[in-house]
Amino acid sequence: MSYPYQIKSLEQYKEAYKQSVDNPDLFWGNIGGYFQWKRRWEKVLEWNFTEPKIEWYKGAKLNITENCLDRHLKTLANTPAIIWEPNDPEEHHRVITYKDLYTKVCQFANVLKSNGVKKGDRVCIYMGMIPELAIAVLACARIGAIHSVIFGGFSAQSIADRLYDAQAEYIVTCDGAYRGAKDIPLKSVIDDALIGNRTVKRVIVCTRTRTAVSMIKGRDVWWEDEVKKVETLGLVDCPAEEMDAEDPLFILYTSGSTGKPKGVVHACAGYMVYTNYTFVNVFQYQRGDIHFCTADIGWITGHSYIVYGPLSAGGTSLMFEGIPTWPDAGRFWDIIDKFKVNILYTAPTAIRSLMGFGLGPLQGKNLSSLKILGTVGEPINEEAWHWYDEHIGKKKCPIVDTWWQTETGGILISNLAGVTLAKPSWATLPMPGVQPILVDENGKEVTEKEDGLYKGNLCIKAPWPSTIRTTYGDHERCKKNYFSTYENLYFTGDGALKDEEGNYRITGRVDDVLNVSGHRIGTAEVENAINMHAGVVESAVVGYPHDIKGQGIYAYVIFQGSHGDEAMRRKDILQTVTRIIGAIAKPDKIQFVSGLPKTRSGKIMRRILRKIAEGETQNLGDTTTLLDPGVVEEIKNGKI
Ligand code: PRX
Repeated sequence: MSYPYQIKSLEQYKEAYKQSVDNPDLFWGNIGGYFQWKRRWEKVLEWNFTEPKIEWYKGAKLNITENCLDRHLKTLANTPAIIWEPNDPEEHHRVITYKDLYTKVCQFANVLKSNGVKKGDRVCIYMGMIPELAIAVLACARIGAIHSVIFGGFSAQSIADRLYDAQAEYIVTCDGAYRGAKDIPLKSVIDDALIGNRTVKRVIVCTRTRTAVSMIKGRDVWWEDEVKKVETLGLVDCPAEEMDAEDPLFILYTSGSTGKPKGVVHACAGYMVYTNYTFVNVFQYQRGDIHFCTADIGWITGHSYIVYGPLSAGGTSLMFEGIPTWPDAGRFWDIIDKFKVNILYTAPTAIRSLMGFGLGPLQGKNLSSLKILGTVGEPINEEAWHWYDEHIGKKKCPIVDTWWQTETGGILISNLAGVTLAKPSWATLPMPGVQPILVDENGKEVTEKEDGLYKGNLCIKAPWPSTIRTTYGDHERCKKNYFSTYENLYFTGDGALKDEEGNYRITGRVDDVLNVSGHRIGTAEVENAINMHAGVVESAVVGYPHDIKGQGIYAYVIFQGSHGDEAMRRKDILQTVTRIIGAIAKPDKIQFVSGLPKTRSGKIMRRILRKIAEGETQNLGDTTTLLDPGVVEEIKNGKI
């Protein structure tokens, strides 16, 4: 069976796009018809961007897991839903069919229930990339609990902040996680995160690494024991909770320009429809295809294109526990060869890093099963694009450059594989239903070209089904961050170029958010973490171009005290950042300075610091408004 709403030609794309803009109710109403509802909607869309209040499929009742599992049981019971490749290539892989997945999700949903979890409760999930992570996510959705997955690389402090913000009462974790040569003690990190926590009632621990863990009586239980208990009780099925279209499905924390990560909230119906629609169209998914998205489920890409998009479409999703460079840099290619992968969806940073190993790791690997390649997370440079095209796709696989964000839930701008044209380093055209606009600082549409292209801040004029609904516990913050910069527009925080044909090229963030190896990190967050070090007086963090990571983190630090030499202080600061946020936020460069360039009103002039970090020390622009222009000379001379 194919997908009736799959766009097959440029003409069909144009038609779909026109209809989606002229009559969104009709367009999305039709697509909604291909899902399973417990009750149909009264109205497809109601919205305003001022509050903001966005409602899709208003009045409908559903459960997303019935769409990801139950409805496939008739025809796809024995089709693999998840193929899991372990970190260690010597360990056996697992194939989980739709029937298996249904059973396991129901079982674990019953475990959650028997441990007291109810509809609307927040469940924090902190696990490695094992099938039980997907099972835990779906089990929450089954009973209407709101999952909040935290990437396994975040520190105890980051988890504690997120637990507090979400007022989470339940945690699902593992004893440990394997990632390359590392064995990460997840449960022990959770134990640290729970020091002083008063809300968490239960921690369910899944066995993976058999690392020694401490289990606190009355609070901690083993996943396997709990499953046995519900089995003994004869609990096999678990009825899918009836959810309102607009009930929250999950919270996912992401960085913004302030120091505190935001809990992005997505709603059940719109998120389901949009992730499915984009999965089927962008990747031109065909029944039976094996889709390999290399992201971690701890990020939005994993939520939408490992779990919900592929499973709601009855697809086969390949989930990989490890990293691309372990045990060697041929790991992705081995996996593609082993499982005859058809679609590979990865990040430019991974491509650039693998490019660095040359063609050796590709020797003897059969990649002929590949049909479609995708990239996500950051702008892809042309060199990486061509390498991907030539050496991985052998010039016969369309590459989709998919632009989107945690807040958008699904892909907003991308070519459709083999259907609309690809253009190296351009995300190209908006998806049906997505109305981008480039504006200047005053919110006015950019109508004049600069060097043949329109250039401005990227905004979206109207909602798409998986628009962010709120930031958990603080709606005002959602309004302020996304809907207040420009009136009646959703502001993405990205800058973009547009050509005469309407193709978009994303140039990167225009706010104080960094994109390091495709991970979003706020400069303020990193500064806060550095400032926690007892010897640090003040710091300023900026990004700079990095060959592999896309952007690197450059920190200017004012240090006071006599402890240790510079090398030792550097190490201590890195250790502090790892403790406060996690290793992903460690600065690549730390320069000790005696002062920071500030305006008379005390504002740090980041523009200058950014230029110095980028190595552009000649043309620093106007520095006359600085309180102490001398400090710039010192910083320039000390650049590392
Ligand atoms: O700057 C854009 C960049 O990643 C940001 C969103 O990060 P996050 O919420 O973590 O989601 C990443 C995965 C969807 C965007 O604001 N970005 C994402 N995809 C692209 C991109 N930049 C350029 N090209 C892309 N394809």
